[in-house]
Amino acid sequence: MITELPKEIMDYIEQNQNHQNQEIDHLNTKGGYIETEDLVRKTAITFYMSKNILLKGPTGSGKTKLAESLATLYQKPMHSINCSVDLDAESLLGFKTIKEKNGKSVIEFVEGPVIQAMKNGRILYIDEINMARPETLPILNGVLDYRRTITNPFTNEVITAHKDFRVIAAINEGYIGTTPLNEALKNRFVIFQVSYLMGDPLKKVINEQTNLEDEQIIDYMLKLSEELIKETKKGKIAEEAASTRALLDACDLAVYLSPLTAIEHAIAEKLEDEREKNFVLNLAETYFKE
Ligand SMILES: Nc1ncnc2c1ncn2[C@@H]1O[C@H](COP(=O)(O)OP(=O)(O)O)[C@@H](O)[C@H]1O
Ligand SMILES: [Mg+2]
Repeated sequence: MITELPKEIMDYIEQNQNHQNQEIDHLNTKGGYIETEDLVRKTAITFYMSKNILLKGPTGSGKTKLAESLATLYQKPMHSINCSVDLDAESLLGFKTIKEKNGKSVIEFVEGPVIQAMKNGRILYIDEINMARPETLPILNGVLDYRRTITNPFTNEVITAHKDFRVIAAINEGYIGTTPLNEALKNRFVIFQVSYLMGDPLKKVINEQTNLEDEQIIDYMLKLSEELIKETKKGKIAEEAASTRALLDACDLAVYLSPLTAIEHAIAEKLEDEREKNFVLNLAETYFKE
């Protein structure tokens, strides 16, 4: 996966590989991120330099996979936050709770993902960052700039991040329910576009991550996917029709079900609009017969 990283970065990676290994067992690292547009090298360098990374791209384009691959490369555990309108300061920083200690009730603070990642020098992965209410995230501004510091409003503790602390966020711009990312927040990130794979790299992902082995079906699935990506770019069908995640599901189902049935349930049924659904099925019928 690693291509031509500067020597000091390779040395740093090697150092990390000598310890901490058991801590990253929770990462789903089967079949790493398949490289396109030099994305691994560029993000790996940005990561090394302690800059916050924002991965921008449609659903199922590999943003989480890329973040996990960076975590694996640097052997760092990752704390994830899934943003939604319900996200609040407590879900980011932690909360107070009452515990029994030596027969007495004491108030204790349970540290949330931001505080844990900062203190222990881990990766904080903030998924769908633009799904959070705009007033929630400014609390992280100091964490995300050169200060790398936060005053925990629940405990008044001032926390400065461990030198290995890193932030990776993901965003799906324009998706329903999202708000444009606040400028001050966006300004604190280095931004990378993540796009759907096509052709040979996509074939590699199918081979590595699905059980489908029939070359002919794989070939047609790749062609269908390319058409779907083209049509979503034209705005003819919703973006999720071209999702790599959906395609991989279709490939897995096609091991036992007919490809058309697989495509219907893994791809077409995800679309709200009947016309779009039919469009996908008709397109699939040009490759597959029932
Ligand atoms: N470039 C890639 N390399 C490896 N796997 C990929 C790639 N792009 C997509 N995938 C696969 O597609 C699926 C969706 O990827 P994911 O990272 O969850 O997307 P996102 O976070 O952008 O919604 C996963 O199963 C992932 O393994
Ligand atoms: Mg994701």
